[in-house]
Order: sequence, then C-alpha cells, then structure tokens
Amino acid sequence: MSKSFYITTPIYYVNDVPHIGHAYTTLACDVMARYKKSQGYEVFFLTGTDEHGQKVEKAAQAAGETPLELADRVVKRFQALWEKLNIENSDFIRTTQERHKEGVRELFRKIEAKGDIYLGEYEDWYCTPCETFWTETQLLDGNCPDCGRPTEKLKEESYFFRMSKYQDELIRHIEENPDFIQPKSRRNEVLNFVKEGLRDLSISRTTFSWGIPVPGNDAHVIYVWFDALTNYITALGYPNDPEGNFGKFWPVDVHVIGKDILRFHTVYWPTFLLAAGIPLPKKVFAHGWWTVEGQKMSKSLRNVVEPNMLIDKYGVDAIRYFLLREVPFGLDGDFSHSALIHRINSDLANDLGNLMSRSSAMVNKYFDGILPEPVCKEEIDGTLVDKIPSTIKGVDELMDAMAFNKALQMIWEIISAGNKYIDDTAPWALAKDKEKHPRLGTVMYNLMETQRIVALLIAPFMPETAQRMFEILGVAPEEMSLEEKGTWGGLRPGTRIEKASPLFPRIEQE
Ligand code: ME8
Repeated sequence: MSKSFYITTPIYYVNDVPHIGHAYTTLACDVMARYKKSQGYEVFFLTGTDEHGQKVEKAAQAAGETPLELADRVVKRFQALWEKLNIENSDFIRTTQERHKEGVRELFRKIEAKGDIYLGEYEDWYCTPCETFWTETQLLDGNCPDCGRPTEKLKEESYFFRMSKYQDELIRHIEENPDFIQPKSRRNEVLNFVKEGLRDLSISRTTFSWGIPVPGNDAHVIYVWFDALTNYITALGYPNDPEGNFGKFWPVDVHVIGKDILRFHTVYWPTFLLAAGIPLPKKVFAHGWWTVEGQKMSKSLRNVVEPNMLIDKYGVDAIRYFLLREVPFGLDGDFSHSALIHRINSDLANDLGNLMSRSSAMVNKYFDGILPEPVCKEEIDGTLVDKIPSTIKGVDELMDAMAFNKALQMIWEIISAGNKYIDDTAPWALAKDKEKHPRLGTVMYNLMETQRIVALLIAPFMPETAQRMFEILGVAPEEMSLEEKGTWGGLRPGTRIEKASPLFPRIEQE
C-alpha cells in the first residue's frame, strides 16, 4: 500500500482579509506537504474558508453585502495569495459548498441518533467576535476571557451535545497518545482544562440565520464551530466516500493551527468524533503567535506586513524562508523588517548565494562549465561527503517533529561547510598547477554535488530557488526526488554547469 499523508490548515474566516498570520500557518503546511511528497507520500493538503456564523453575517451587513457576496469576494483574496505564495494545496473547501453542508448535517444526525444531542435551553454570556459562550465565572470583569471584548447575555433554546459524557475517554486518549497534542506545553494546558470538567456544549443558535439549518428544525442553525471543524472530513467526501479519499486519508496526520483555536481542535472536535465513532486525528499542532515590530497585529500595523507587499518587495522564497527560520514552530515570534533583511543578507545572499556563485564561476573558469570527474579524493572531502547521510536523516526527524527552524539550521550547516571547503582547498591555488587539475576537478565536483543535495533539501521551503539551483546544476526534473536521489554521487560528470547570477541580491537597510 502506498504511503499517505493528510495535513490541514484552519479554514479562515472571510470577515477578515488574509494577513501574515494566515500566511504563516498555510506556508508551514505547504512545506510539510511538499516535504512528504518528496519522500514518496501521497499527500492531501487541505485549506479553505469558514463562511457561516454571526461574525460573517455582521461583517456582510456592515459592508452592505449578502454574506455570500462577502465570502465570494474575500475567498478570491485568499486564493490569490496562496497562488502567489506558491502554495500547492490539493483542495480548497468553503463551508457554503453543498458537499460540506451535506456532511455537516450527516454528522449532526449521526450523533443525534446516538442520543448525544438533545434540545435544551441556554443562558450564558456570548462573545460575538469569538463565537463563544462563557459562564459567569469565566468572564474577566464581565468581558470575554479570550479577547477582552464585551459579552452579551443570551437566553435561547438550543441543541446540546453531550460533551461531558466523553470527558474520561478524551483524558485517556490524550494520556495514552503523547503526540496527539503538540507542543507538549499545549498538551498539558488541554489536559488540565479537560480535567476541570467538561460541560455539555450548545451546538445550535436561533438568534441569526446565516448557517446550516439543524436537520428537522429550521428555527436553528448549527453552531459555527461544529460546522467549521467538520470541513476536515467533508473535504474528503464524508459521508459518501468511504472507499475514496475519506478511507485513504482519514485519520488526518496533522491539523496545524494557531494556539488561539487549540481548545476547539483538541476538545470539541475529538469529542464530536468519539460520539460519531470516527477515529481521532493523529496530531494537532498549535503554533505560536506573531506580533509585528513588537506589537499586537492591529489593522494599521498589518499594512506594513501585508503578505502581497512583502512578496513583491523581497521575493516569495525569502519570505517563505524567513517565516520558518526565524522562530521555532510552536513559539511566539516577532516580525520586523530589520530581522527579515538581516536573514536575507546573511543566510541567503551570503551563505547560500555566495556558495553557488563562487563555485559555478570556478567550474566555468577552470573547466569551461563542464563538470569534471571526481578522480582524486582527499581526506578533507569527508567534511562534505560524510555530512550528507546524517543531515538527510536529521532533517527527516526534525521535519516529523515540525521543527522547521532546526531543519533549516541543519541544512545551513552543509552550506557553511561548503563555503569553508572552498577556503580550505583553495581552488585558485590548485588551478595554478597543471598537475593538480584532477584534484581541482574533484573539489569542483564535490561542491556542485553538495549543492544538488542542498537544493533537494530546501525545495519544500524554497521551491523557486531550488528550481533555479537545479537549472544551474543541469539536473533534470525526474532527478529531483529526495527519496530516490538523496544519496551522494547523483550529479553526472560531463554535465554543463551554468555560471550563476546571484540567487539573492543583497538588500540595503533603509
Ligand atoms: O479561527 N500569528 O479563523 P481565523 C500566528 N475560522 N497565526 C495567526 C495569527 C497570528 N498573529 N493570526 C491568525 C478561525 N493566525 C476559524 C478556524 S478551523 C475549523 C476554523 C492564523 O481566520 C492561525 O493559524 O481567525 C490561527 O489559528 C488562524 O489564523 C485563525 O484564523
């Protein structure tokens, strides 16, 4: 059986336009998806939009549009940004699509048939921006404990999900599956929360109508989080496709989310699935929160880091690299232009770019651009050759742990080793002595072959740069598989090596 891998982003609300935070999550998933593809996995990578609920309804009213008009407009902006960011998603789900609505109704019916949904009455404090009910004791000075904004008291007839019934099973699942919630600190947070006791969950609303009607009772719409979370299975064809994508890709390998929506993914969603008898996600990974120039991302600050603008100014791969290199995935991070420019200049222009321009220039100068054969080996070659297998293995382990920054650090160790190898072997000195040409040729081969492996390893992070490196190295598309070509010796002597222009121009600080 072929290896499969399923990864998801949150589906983003359409009442906001995409910003750097959304780009971050989607990018991380894209890198992971591309990496798994390079390892021979059949990958399903899902993203999409969350289009129902009071928040979207209100935003549409304010904009003088219908909710669907608003959604259609904003969805285009998300899709255009994903294209620009080189995101290779397999599907894009919108919660207003019929395939989704049908699946949500089915999940609702299934849990209801089990006796785990009942009609009751709800009275509590509701935070509209968060679409969340809070009890009196949870409020902070009468405001939402999550976002600090005012809440309003709501009393309404509501369908409830017997979440309390699944408390012990959920605790057991979290305890028996240490990888289920990552990073570890988040796991402890959830465990403590669940151990304090789960209440039954209100899963329908009667105060507005922009949502999926409850099957058999049109006066209610299904709670937006019940609706939204179900996208992860409706996109696979649930309930109609047990032999197709649902059978092949569920349970999901990882739901990647921001830490803001941890509870929905690690308490609500798993208990819905337990009630429906559907296997639980293998992993939920909650990454950290970005601030901008040391401050919370406000609307005005966002302009400064508008993803389209950043990509136009610095290039797509520089942004992709920076976001995943700068901050350990799982921790909070700060976006600053000076940090970005520093990374571009030191890691990309200097380390990676210089290695390519120096070495490709020398192959052209000394060998007319034809890659020589490595016939004259010396011990120092081990500083490159011996590093390759352990790096490939190390990167693999780090990618599985979603430790993107460490994986990049490890790849950059080979790049540094390459630059040091040039200094240590001093090709310009070898070139002066005709008898040393076989040795010079070997040094050139080792440098170019090292960069072939580097290109394979950075391809998920920086697809365009890797592509450019393969062009310079004369590597054909069918030879770009890390799984098949990730061992030393893949470059064929005799290949024409292009004299590379700088991969990344240096950026002057403004
Ligand atoms: O919550 N730093 O959608 P949403 C890092 N529709 N990541 C950030 C961020 C920041 N400053 N701001 C946003 C919703 N994100 C629901 C999800 S899923 C079934 C339903 C990212 O549009 C991060 O991934 O508010 C966060 O979890 C997500 O955007 C929230 O997107």
